[in-house]
Amino acid sequence: MIDQIRGLTHQFETDLATIRDLDGYTAVRNKWLARETGLITTSMKRLREMSKEDRPAFGQAMNELRLRAEDSLGRMLDGLKLAAREQEIARKPVDVTRPGFPYPLGWEHPIRRLQAEIEQIFVSMGFRILDCPEVETDYYNFEALNMPRQHPARDAQDTFYFDEAELKLLRTHCSPVQIHAMETMKPPIRAASTGRVYRRDPFDATHSPMFFQVDVLAVDEGITMGDLKGTLEVFLKRIFHPDTRMRLRPGYFPFVEPGAEVDISCIFCFGKGCRICKQTGWIEILGAGMIHPKVLRMSGVDDSRYSGFAWGMGIDRVAILKYGVEDIRLFFENDLRFLRQF
Ligand code: PHE
Repeated sequence: MIDQIRGLTHQFETDLATIRDLDGYTAVRNKWLARETGLITTSMKRLREMSKEDRPAFGQAMNELRLRAEDSLGRMLDGLKLAAREQEIARKPVDVTRPGFPYPLGWEHPIRRLQAEIEQIFVSMGFRILDCPEVETDYYNFEALNMPRQHPARDAQDTFYFDEAELKLLRTHCSPVQIHAMETMKPPIRAASTGRVYRRDPFDATHSPMFFQVDVLAVDEGITMGDLKGTLEVFLKRIFHPDTRMRLRPGYFPFVEPGAEVDISCIFCFGKGCRICKQTGWIEILGAGMIHPKVLRMSGVDDSRYSGFAWGMGIDRVAILKYGVEDIRLFFENDLRFLRQF
């Protein structure tokens, strides 16, 4: 019996050594492991001819041979497949002219794109773009803009504060650029800044605790309300439509005097009256005015010699109007199905 097993094992090893390719592998595998006709199965049938004492040892030895055959043939197959693949690659060199798979590209966020467009208009008009901090001090956000403590206008801009003393805060508007510009530049000043602003507002269709603004200012000798209107008109025609008309209504902001609310002719009905402009033909778009002499003085500008204008506008509001988006939240939820449409 021992001889029989030795003979089978030896024969298997010899067969294994003859394998050169997948055909050879299949032949050896069938010869040994085929379910009904393989040598392992047929040899097992000899159990019946054996004495009771010999059967367990023979059965166990045959099982070991089966496991060994399965293991060796399995590894042989892996090696053959790898070799076949290497041969294939060597035979057919990589075709470098084959078109690649398109990789999904990112794109600019619509608000970011509008922000860049707005900056570009100001650059083309000779304004310098300043980068201003989002974390501001009470001084730049309020005090220097003629909103001392207890000033009622502060309530309208419900603020996120960082500390108990309420000295560090998230800016509530972009108007601090006026102070930064006047402190760092000498007239003639033409500067603008865009970016995020923060207010304690709910997050609903028309409000967001974070949104985007642009603020612009010009300070020089002899700057008048006419300069404000002229610059504003060029800007609004370029950002909306060349036929856009505008009108100024008296408005109050503590850091300008006189101050104005600016409307544009409705971009949906061109002034005829529709749902969006509530049948008035006009849409309120921004705040503007002549920089208050107190504000000029506080920032070290001689108000007897210089005057200036400033205006500020919400960028998201422009995006909502321009792209006909009904809900401001869509811009900040990063749903690609929405953003992909721009
Ligand atoms: N800062 C004002 C706001 O956030 C807008 C404004 C800017 C008004 C400059 C007048 C001049 O509403």
